Amino acid sequence: MNKTIQCWAVVPAAGVGKRMQADRPKQYLPLAGKTVIEHTLSRLVQSGAFQAVAVAISVEDPYWPELEISQHPQVITAPGGKERADSVLSALKALQGQADENDWVLVHDAARPCLTSDDIHNLIATLKDDAVGGILALSSHDTLKQVDGHNITATVDRSQIWRALTPQMFRYGMLRDALQDAEGNPAITDEASALELLGLQPKIVEGRPDNIKITRPEDLALAQFYMEQQQ
Ligand code: CTP
Ligand code: MG
Repeated sequence: MNKTIQCWAVVPAAGVGKRMQADRPKQYLPLAGKTVIEHTLSRLVQSGAFQAVAVAISVEDPYWPELEISQHPQVITAPGGKERADSVLSALKALQGQADENDWVLVHDAARPCLTSDDIHNLIATLKDDAVGGILALSSHDTLKQVDGHNITATVDRSQIWRALTPQMFRYGMLRDALQDAEGNPAITDEASALELLGLQPKIVEGRPDNIKITRPEDLALAQFYMEQQQ
């Protein structure tokens, strides 16, 4: 008899937020009455899609234990790593023994607090029977240029370029093995790239444009605006 396939969430949250230039990692900055990471995690938990959410947290992080959500029964804490991919692998390992090899894992950046239940459920519904999995992505509205320094050398065919967002949805065992094989490779900036390296072709699923990543100071005001619009 087939065991039902379950979904798990993994949240890398062990970055320092260098580009944000704040006094603390960006996931702990205030946004609409809570910290960024509290929005992200409560949206994942409240979507009802996941058995548990494994969060990778830096071992020196003094902010995490202060948050009520760190004690939530569905939230599992794992030690963060040097790069994002190391943090994701660490959180995957924290699910060992609970997650089945064929279960789905949705990896979502702590720094994307505007994620909607719509996007989560649409991604899962679109890919649940897929062999490999895939990612939320956005097309580009701007004309894209290839450059050499500041000189334009070509106009890129926009129909072939998509911007990778999160969540990124892959099979537990396949993702763990792909990240393990690629350990230390700086080209692995998201989960999909680790699977691409194996010659696989993850799918793209069009996501919502309000699922922004807080990266620079001006992004907080934009996230606040999107949250107000979502209500
Ligand atoms: N992340 C992580 N472990 C790392 C680096 C990043 O878990 N060693 C997480 C971040 O906390 C963030 C997500 O990966 O939620 C996306 O990374 P990014 O936006 O680059 O965040 P930071 O690395 O913190 O920011 P910066 O690159 O500006 O320093
Ligand atoms: Mg980074």
